[in-house]
Amino acid sequence: MQETKKHGWKEFFQLVLKAKLPWHLYILALIGLFASTTFTLGLPVVMSEIFAGNIFDFEIVSKYFVLMIASLSLAAISAFLIYITNPIVMRNIQWIIWPKLIRMPMRKYEKQPSLQLISRITVDPGFIDRAVADLNNVLNSTYGLVGSFIIMYGMSSKLTLALLPIIPYILIVSAITGHFTQKTQYGVQHAFSGLTAFFAERLPKIRLVKSFGKEDKEIDRGKTIIQDQYQADKKRALVDLFAQPLLNSIQGIIIGIVLVYGSYLVSKGEMKVSQVIAFYMYVQYLHMSVTQYGRFWQTLKQAKGASEKIAQILDSKDEVLKRDKSLDDAKQQTSGDIVLENVSFSYADTKVLSNLNFTIPKGKVTAIIGPSGGGKSTIFSLIERLYDPNVGRVLMGNMPAEKINLDEWRHGMAYVSQSTPLISGTIRENITYGLDREVADEELVHVAKMAAALEFIQEFPDGFDTEVGEFGSKLSGGQRQRIAIARAFIMDSQYLLLDEATSNLDAQSEYLIERALQKLMKNRTTIMISHDLKDVKNADQIIVIDQGEVNGIGTHQELSESNELYQHLTKLQSEKDAKLLPVF
Ligand SMILES: Nc1ncnc2c1ncn2[C@@H]1O[C@H](COP(=O)(O)OP(=O)(O)O)[C@@H](O)[C@H]1O
Ligand SMILES: [Mg+2]
Repeated sequence: MQETKKHGWKEFFQLVLKAKLPWHLYILALIGLFASTTFTLGLPVVMSEIFAGNIFDFEIVSKYFVLMIASLSLAAISAFLIYITNPIVMRNIQWIIWPKLIRMPMRKYEKQPSLQLISRITVDPGFIDRAVADLNNVLNSTYGLVGSFIIMYGMSSKLTLALLPIIPYILIVSAITGHFTQKTQYGVQHAFSGLTAFFAERLPKIRLVKSFGKEDKEIDRGKTIIQDQYQADKKRALVDLFAQPLLNSIQGIIIGIVLVYGSYLVSKGEMKVSQVIAFYMYVQYLHMSVTQYGRFWQTLKQAKGASEKIAQILDSKDEVLKRDKSLDDAKQQTSGDIVLENVSFSYADTKVLSNLNFTIPKGKVTAIIGPSGGGKSTIFSLIERLYDPNVGRVLMGNMPAEKINLDEWRHGMAYVSQSTPLISGTIRENITYGLDREVADEELVHVAKMAAALEFIQEFPDGFDTEVGEFGSKLSGGQRQRIAIARAFIMDSQYLLLDEATSNLDAQSEYLIERALQKLMKNRTTIMISHDLKDVKNADQIIVIDQGEVNGIGTHQELSESNELYQHLTKLQSEKDAKLLPVF
């Protein structure tokens, strides 16, 4: 953390370089701004002459209009250029972040809640974009500042020099107000992200809130969070209450000096009234430019903070998908068994699996059972190579899995779980998700039929083009499950991972899904996690997992004789079944 803080600026500049700014447009906009400012700088001289009584001098009045129109139109052109470049910068930065965000190794996602990750791509690029856009304004202000200083000095070196002692005051006031503004602004942003996180989590869980009658509680909690935001806003406003007058005092003092000392110089005959008027106008301009710096500094700091956060994502290494061997090579050159060799695994700090050793034979059915929380689903994550083990390795036969292309490996495994994830879109899109080829309707009908899903799909008016809703919310659990099974059929993967695929289903769905799974398991290597000992009994091999360790391996027969935990689980299951059976 310390180290990234130290290098915050570096990250900002790196990101700006990577974002491939449309430099030509920026420079064009800057040239436009400089030209506009050049004309603006000529204005006070002309205006002061008009004020001094030359109102009917056609030449001077037309000069005024020419300068004014030139300055305004150039400024407008620059503004237009900036308007079209800003979205390009924003898009380019987002384009850099998104592929990184999606290609990070799984472990990276656990470090921060997904809502925070969303801000990395929605909110943070905006700060960088703004800083880049403001840079033009600041450069232009600097040009205007130097320009007006030179013109003022040319008019009256005495009056210009009289303004210099105020510089330390400007610096001190800017530093103090800047410090507090930034601090409270940070508070506002922090409160805002808390607010967003709260609502973004509560609204999708509205069902839970309502069914537990927690509306009042949540309203109170929401109000507290809105109150926090209000407090932060209030602090921010309070700072402005003092900051604005302080900043304006700069202007007051400068104008005071110009008017008092200027009239003195006029009375001495060292300056003309029109010059003092021009001076007065330049000084206004000067003040405007100075306040730009304070604002720019804040924008820059925010951009730096955003860059630091974005860099944490950009610095993460992408998962390497391409390895030495293709999955086909591996299948040909090895037995095709999946082997866990001395595998230990932790999520962050919590150790979940220790020292696992077992082989999942090709073409057979392996069941994994054990108390919940024991690490069974985690074993699936390791077999899918979503995570690398901390110790030990996963192999195909005698070939380390890390040598085999990761994308093909994952493609080669179909995963069906109790809570099958669907993406919003149509049923068709969900069944074919992950498939790179076109799918004919006949094939779709075929796999849906195999998955016992055809009937309910055809009952929807839109059939395969039915929208499934957010996370598949318009389908029942059993329907989602069958969509996932249809997906597994179409993927035709050799390895099948079933994670409690038939738990929590009604009898009818369970029956349909079990039959569909039986068909799916044919000629494939199946690994199933199940509570249901009926499924487990017929497996070729059963692995009992308890608290992250292998408690026993064998067939139903072997484990029934020798494994205490297995005996215990079987006993619980038969008691449960007995209760469920009708008693005659
Ligand atoms: N993504 C995760 N981050 C941190 N801990 C996790 C994560 N997933 C699971 N765990 C923890 O790992 C342990 C094993 O979980 P899991 O593999 O899901 O067990 P099982 O499938 O046997 O019920 C549990 O204690 C669980 O809390
Ligand atoms: Mg589990």
